[in-house]
Amino acid sequence: MTDSATTATAPVADWVTIVDLYTDPFPIYRRMREESPVHWVPAVNRYLVTGYDACHTIDNDQETYSADESGSLMKRAVGHSMLRRDDPRHLDERKSYGGVLKPRAIKQHWNQIFDENCRVQLDRLLAIGPGADLVWDFCAPYAAENLRQVMGLVNATNQDLQRWSQAMINGAGNYSDDPLVWAESERAFDEVDTALDEILPLLRRNPDHSLLSQMAASPIAMDSIRANMKMTIAGGINEPRDLLGIAVWGLLTRPEQRALVAADPALYSLVFDEAARWVAPIGMYPRETTRETVLGGIELPRGAHLGVVVGAANRDPSVFENPNTFDITREKKPHQAFGGGTHFCAGAWVARASVADVALPHLFNVIPTLRPHPDRPAREEGWVFRGMTSLPVDWDRSTVPAFPGSPS
Ligand code: HEM
Repeated sequence: MTDSATTATAPVADWVTIVDLYTDPFPIYRRMREESPVHWVPAVNRYLVTGYDACHTIDNDQETYSADESGSLMKRAVGHSMLRRDDPRHLDERKSYGGVLKPRAIKQHWNQIFDENCRVQLDRLLAIGPGADLVWDFCAPYAAENLRQVMGLVNATNQDLQRWSQAMINGAGNYSDDPLVWAESERAFDEVDTALDEILPLLRRNPDHSLLSQMAASPIAMDSIRANMKMTIAGGINEPRDLLGIAVWGLLTRPEQRALVAADPALYSLVFDEAARWVAPIGMYPRETTRETVLGGIELPRGAHLGVVVGAANRDPSVFENPNTFDITREKKPHQAFGGGTHFCAGAWVARASVADVALPHLFNVIPTLRPHPDRPAREEGWVFRGMTSLPVDWDRSTVPAFPGSPS
């Protein structure tokens, strides 16, 4: 950050710490938003943008707010993917994904696979029994298995994918520059490269419906394929895992809303969006100004590093009434959990299908007495990436029916 950046007119939030953000960012966001939509935050060495309108402006103006941030942690963690490029190069790379993550492919191929994966993971959860941790014994392996198959990374295990995803995402969110976090992230980076080198030639000879098969046939340079596949592993597991965990937590702690959904399963789609609004799995993503500008009344210099805090925008009371409350009956308004503009999440349909159409209805149908564990507290943590980090659950064994059709 240049000296001129620190002399801009943004209020300075020198009271914000990374530890407090990680523990519970929402009171911090509220205090910041009440003062100004944009602050300079020394603890994270960037401006944090917490107002709904200001975040929306950034997403829709890539000429002023570039995704290609200098010194980007994401670029260091996974390489230079489409996520940190601007158009037209970004669009070329995005087009290289073809229709693999889109609704038609989901309907034709992936829904059935998500359904099978859900049955397997539910059987596993039931076998572990009451006391299981829903995040690690269901949400994480389910999300990893879905992505493993959508990507076609059949030469890696479910556990490999979970470890790679977490290690690279920890790197991308390593704002405190912890060397141990970088070491893990670099190890994952190398292991993914090895797996790609092994599988891509096979898929060139035997194409299938997977994303890697699509990439194997694309004219995109190998470096970009590597970076985009790593970015997709990083974002394609943890975010659906976290959204699923938050959605379950929202319903477990609000019995009246759970009853509404039980009576009308079409409402799981609202649960999905409300959970994404309430606790955005990607709470903050970066941008950099390409010229001097004014955002939400705040002057920004050229080269200013910004954090687009969609986790805060989604709780802006000027848009969402009682924003801190999980409420599936609230007036429908667009949240920003999947970003916006040219970088709108390419996996949003996969996330919706796997979480809202498959996992949530199956989970609550099969375990109708699911509830938080009485003795072991649930934990919700993070700010750059946020979700349930532990959700111990309990249920009445006697009320769990057999789950027909599970592959043995
Ligand atoms: C609940 C689940 C998910 C959430 C909340 C989420 C959120 C986001 C957000 C906020 C962005 C934009 C970030 C930025 O502009 O810097 C993004 C981009 C992206 N996401 Fe997701 N994501 C989810 C699931 C997935 C899944 C399952 C996949 C893959 C199967 C995926 C693939 C991507 C890709 C490829 C991009 C880059 C798009 C581009 O740059 O044009 N995401 N996601």
